Amino acid sequence: MKNIILCGFMGCGKSTIGRRLSKKTGAEFVDMDKYIEEKAGLTVAEIFEQFGEEGFRKMEREACRELAEKSGLIIAAGGGTLTFRENVDVLGSTGRIVFINVSYEQLCERLKRDTRRPLLQVENRNERIRELLTERLPMYNRAASIVVDGNFNSAVVTDFILGIVK
Ligand code: S3P
Repeated sequence: MKNIILCGFMGCGKSTIGRRLSKKTGAEFVDMDKYIEEKAGLTVAEIFEQFGEEGFRKMEREACRELAEKSGLIIAAGGGTLTFRENVDVLGSTGRIVFINVSYEQLCERLKRDTRRPLLQVENRNERIRELLTERLPMYNRAASIVVDGNFNSAVVTDFILGIVK
């Protein structure tokens, strides 16, 4: 089986849906943020603190290259991973990239209590979400060969994806 790579903004449900897909298909699930954290022995927030976003992106690039060596995985990418052409090329060559598209309003609601994502620890969080989403939407669409409406609960979105990739 080829890999299935889940892509989309922070809070779109990549990890939850990835875990559900893994249960339903028996394929191994890899959460890229967790993979990076385990390798570094630090949380994503600590990596940003100690090495800056640049340092994190470097580790993320490395993680893409390592995971691309494997097959049969369900991979939840980070929200920024597939905004970089290099990562899209590396991961995209190993399987199908699925963009889980969630509306701005839903994302603001889902992310309003977040304390662990460094990019969202700013005064005007919704404004930040709007800026990043505007910049990234075209990139997600370009990266993915499948786009699903993610404004439903994770069980429904999982079934949408299964229906397409089967
Ligand atoms: C990021 C998203 C995060 C994590 C890091 C940067 C981003 O992953 O990789 O905080 O640039 O959107 P999630 O999308 O899993 O929250």
